Amino acid sequence: MERIDCDVVIVGAGASGLTAANKLKDAGKSVVVLEARDRIGGRLWTDDIDGAMLEIGGQWVSPDQDALIETIDELGLETYSRYREGENVYIGETGERRLFEGDIFPVPAKTEGEIVGLIEKLDALVAEIDPDAPWAHPRAKELDEVSFAEWLGTQTDDEEAKLNIGMFIAGAMLTKPAHAFSALQALLMAASAGSFSNLVDADFILDKRVVGGLQLVPLGLAERLGGAVRLGQPVRKLRWNPEQPDAGVTAVTDDLEVHAKRVILALAPVLISRISYEPPLPRRQHQLHQHLSMGFVIKVHAVYETPFWRADGLSGTAFSPYELVHEAYDNTNHGDPRGTLVGFVSDEEADGVFTLDAEERKAKILESLSHYYGEQAKNPVVYYESDWGSEEWTRGAYAASFDMGGLARYGADLRTPVGPIHFSCSDMAGKGYQHVDGAIRVGREVAAAILAEG
Ligand code: FDA
Repeated sequence: MERIDCDVVIVGAGASGLTAANKLKDAGKSVVVLEARDRIGGRLWTDDIDGAMLEIGGQWVSPDQDALIETIDELGLETYSRYREGENVYIGETGERRLFEGDIFPVPAKTEGEIVGLIEKLDALVAEIDPDAPWAHPRAKELDEVSFAEWLGTQTDDEEAKLNIGMFIAGAMLTKPAHAFSALQALLMAASAGSFSNLVDADFILDKRVVGGLQLVPLGLAERLGGAVRLGQPVRKLRWNPEQPDAGVTAVTDDLEVHAKRVILALAPVLISRISYEPPLPRRQHQLHQHLSMGFVIKVHAVYETPFWRADGLSGTAFSPYELVHEAYDNTNHGDPRGTLVGFVSDEEADGVFTLDAEERKAKILESLSHYYGEQAKNPVVYYESDWGSEEWTRGAYAASFDMGGLARYGADLRTPVGPIHFSCSDMAGKGYQHVDGAIRVGREVAAAILAEG
């Protein structure tokens, strides 16, 4: 067993852990980053699939994400805009395909009125929520005891309006059914992006991508750390002595023992309990980690010889709460003559298609894409499904959220350090929650807290 000594050991080489490591190193601390996988980046991963460059995990950057934008600039990376010229597609309950521009779907006038009213109500409520402390809202407990689906039901009886507004948070963000998370959790999701209106605005929330892929962010951060990042090192055990907090902590992998003054667990919070602790974590942590779970979504990539939908005057942006693929976009890479569509199959729909064999699943998903873009969508030259649910070191997508009542009950303790153990992850962020921006923000904050401790 090799022994290493350092000031801070960071568990997880995702955007959050690598940000913290860089901030600590810049302040003169020695760091070691232990990563379970044999690659850097966690939920950011760009790979070559059958000759196509695909962003298997996170990829989009929105204009409010200033921590991420600063990091992109510091690393000298270039960005480009998502293709959005032309008309968008919406499919309603009867399966009729309608084209539209702007954010509001082409639905019957009454439904449109309900949608606009709901967006206004949600914007007003979201404005009252501090994304860094949603539990501090005077009605936090009450809002955390009602599911988002139930809350929508108290606002309108228009089914299409409920499904569409539900979709923006449920299928599209938390990737859980709207009955499975609370209204408070939904408000946090919107507050973390600035407003509910921002979530509805695809041109805002899915604005830019990084040339070469967003994984270049963690790769660039890791490069600055030189040999401090050790891959293929799942941390199995953490040991410390509560009687002697200054004696530090030992992180144990199959090959290494890293002795440090502090440790940062920079991993999805659902994985914290996979590590053994000596002594065990306190009761509060044991409890709260059981009230968090990952959402689940399949990110589908379909590459074609040309972006054929553009010739039909389509932007590639498509939505329907009635379709297997509830949202899809033009995801053509910068400078690529081929055209790529990306679509999303979320929560219970994803469960459903994973009961099928791979060919049947592909056929069903492409059939759904063809409802938006026509028959040509059924014949991609490259097809790939990002399935983070079967990744041992992530276990779902996009991120973790609390079950009913969990956010008001436990949210405030999510990032409370335990002795020398600190926590950092996008799934614990306020602003930028569930996004790379949040991962970077929390990484910076945890590094600053450790530096303040001396
Ligand atoms: P992350 O999970 O990335 O890193 C944690 C690291 O810890 C991993 O590398 C893991 O292997 C490691 N680890 C776990 N257990 C360990 C152990 N015991 N020992 C050692 N290492 C261990 N965001 C966005 O801003 N724009 C977007 O468009 C999208 N889209 C999107 C699509 C898909 C399909 C996914 C899965 C995710 C997104 N996201 C996104 C979310 C975004 O990717 C995510 O919020 C951040 O990358 C999370 O970064 P973290 O560093 O917090 O965790």
